[in-house]
Amino acid sequence: MAISLTPRPTVAGSRIVSLGAARGDLTVPNDDLVEPINSSDEWIRQRTGIITRRRASAEVGVADMAQQAADEAISGAGLQPGDIDAILCATITFPYQQPSMAAHLAGRLGLGDVIAYDISAACAGFCYGIGQADGLIRSGSARNVLVIGAEKLSDFVSPTDRSISFLLGDGAGAAVVSASDEPRIGPTVWGSDGSHWDAVRMTGSSIDFREGRIPWPTLEQDGRTVFRWAVWHSAEKIREMLEQSGLTPEDVDVFVPHQANMRIVDELVNQLKLPEDVVVARDIAETGNTSAASVPLALHRLVAEGQASSGDVAVLFGFGGGLAYAGQIVILP
Ligand SMILES: CC(C)(COP(=O)(O)OP(=O)(O)OC[C@H]1O[C@@H](n2cnc3c(N)ncnc32)[C@H](O)[C@@H]1OP(=O)(O)O)[C@@H](O)C(=O)NCCC(=O)NCCS
Repeated sequence: MAISLTPRPTVAGSRIVSLGAARGDLTVPNDDLVEPINSSDEWIRQRTGIITRRRASAEVGVADMAQQAADEAISGAGLQPGDIDAILCATITFPYQQPSMAAHLAGRLGLGDVIAYDISAACAGFCYGIGQADGLIRSGSARNVLVIGAEKLSDFVSPTDRSISFLLGDGAGAAVVSASDEPRIGPTVWGSDGSHWDAVRMTGSSIDFREGRIPWPTLEQDGRTVFRWAVWHSAEKIREMLEQSGLTPEDVDVFVPHQANMRIVDELVNQLKLPEDVVVARDIAETGNTSAASVPLALHRLVAEGQASSGDVAVLFGFGGGLAYAGQIVILP
C-alpha cells in the first residue's frame, strides 16, 4: 500500500511587521575618494546622485551592524528573540566562507534552535530573503522570520578602482516577516541572467580556491552593462510584479528600488510612468550603494521620516551581481 505523508498545515500569507536599520558610523564625502580615481565631486554627483556615503569604522563589522538592525526589528515587532523561527541573511561581505552569518547572528541574538542560512544574491539579496520568508511561512515551516540585508562593502573596496568603489557604502537593514491571514506580501518576481554572471565581481573570484592563496578580493564591475540591464530588465519585471499582484502604477504609494545609481532610479520611475505623487526612495544620495542592505535601509528612512506610512502599497525591487533580481509588492506595517 502506498504511504502518504502528512503535510504541515499551510498558512494563507505573510506580512512585514517591523523594520530595523544601522548605517556605517562615518560620513564619507566624494572629495575624500576622488584623488586616486582621477574623478571629481561634480562627476560623481552628476553620474550617480551620490553626495556622501556611510561607511563603518575599522572596529565595526558587518555582523555588528546586522545585529543592531535585527534588535530594532525584533523589538519593533513586539517579539522576544525566542519567538523567531528562521533567520535569513543576505550578504556578500561576511568575511567567512563558512559558517554562515545567519548562524553566527542566531547565536549572538539568542534565537535558539532556528532555521539559519545566508543568501548570496548580492543587491537582490534582501528581496530574495523576503520571498523566501513568505515561502517558509506559507508552507508552515516558520511563523516569524527575521530577514537581514547587511554589507560592509568598504572592506572590499580598492581605493584606485574607478568602476564601482566610489558607489559603495556600509549598513544593514532588517525586517520581521510574520504569518498573516490576509496576504500583505504579493508574489515575488525573481530570477537571474547568468550570461552576465561576472558583470559585478570580486577580483579573484574567478580563481578556484583549490589553486591556493588568493589576494584579498575587491569589487569591480562593467558599469555600462549593469546600467543598461538594470534599467530595461527591471522595468519589465516590475510591470510583471504589478500585474501578478493585480495592481497598476496608479495603485503604488511608495517605490523602493535598489539604490545603485540615482540615474537608474529616475529612469525606472520614467519607464514605469509612476504618478508624480508616488514617494520614491533616494537614500543613495547620503548612504551610497549598500548592496543587500540598500532596499531595507531606503524603506526604513522613508518610514522614519514619515514619507511612507502604514497601509501604503510599496514596490520593493533589488538587482545586481549575478545578475540577479527580485522584488515584491508589500503593504507597509
Ligand atoms: C559606474 C557608473 C556610475 C559609470 O557611469 P557611466 O555614465 O556609465 O560612465 P561610463 O563608464 O559610460 O564612462 C563615461 C565617462 O566617464 C569616465 N569615467 C568612468 N568612471 C569614472 C569615474 N569614477 N570618475 C570620473 N570619470 C569616470 C569614463 O572614462 C568616460 O569618459 P569618456 O567619455 O571621456 O570616455 C554607471 O555605469 C553605473 O552606475 N552602473 C551601474 C551601477 C550598478 O548598478 N552596479 C551594480 C552593483 S549594485
